[in-house]
Amino acid sequence: MIAIIGGTGVYALPGAEEHERVVATPYGDAAVTQVRLPDGLELVFAPRHGKGHAVPPHRLPARALLWGLKEIGVTAILATSAVGSVREDIPPGSLALLGDFIDFTKSRPTTFHDGPGVVHQNVSDAYCPTLRAALRRSADRQGIALRREDVVYVCTEGPRFETPAEIRAYAQLGGDVVGMTQVPEAVLAAEMGICYAAVALVTNLAAGVQGARPSHEEVLELMAEQGRTLSNLLLGTARDLGRDYRCGIHPQPEAMS
Ligand code: HPA
Repeated sequence: MIAIIGGTGVYALPGAEEHERVVATPYGDAAVTQVRLPDGLELVFAPRHGKGHAVPPHRLPARALLWGLKEIGVTAILATSAVGSVREDIPPGSLALLGDFIDFTKSRPTTFHDGPGVVHQNVSDAYCPTLRAALRRSADRQGIALRREDVVYVCTEGPRFETPAEIRAYAQLGGDVVGMTQVPEAVLAAEMGICYAAVALVTNLAAGVQGARPSHEEVLELMAEQGRTLSNLLLGTARDLGRDYRCGIHPQPEAMS
């Protein structure tokens, strides 16, 4: 079963018949929506910030969500993510396929492997190559412009936006876009052995890039304009992958003690 995690601005799927479900997990309840599209495609949808964007990024119950998705049989996740761009050549409005991340979060639980025992998850392929290839194909078929070479996501703690000095530092470190939610989501998916890929929508230039001063309103405005294209990209991909998708190359949890 495929799940779509909708970030900022993606709170529902167009035309879907929905059935809400609460899955009890050791980390609290996970609220997910079972969805059936007019063409019969069934998948799971989860708005990352809850209905009405109620939960801030540093308080997201990511462990409950990922545990819940595993529990109900999800094998692949396609996620959306609103980001600021660290580079002038990735302008607002761009869709970017994430290829890697750099973690600057500070205070979140980022693992299921909390002991006893030691597990070091391999995240060399945090973004599943098979899902990424499927997203590229779906973009090509639908004529959707998608920046596809490795785009590096810098995950900050939030909820504040970054300072211009932080953004300059992230650019020097090799970051391309900046957001607040890919860690621990992508990490927890890897720990659960669930394939994961994410498409970022650039909603603004990050702080200081061409003098930018990001605002939440600006983020929401661009998401409202482009959210539909993003949903079409993900839904087209989910259709191609089919309900029984399994990639077989995604790294499984490795025990090292
Ligand atoms: N910084 C961090 N997160 C974001 C931004 C940003 O500029 N835009 C959208 N999400």
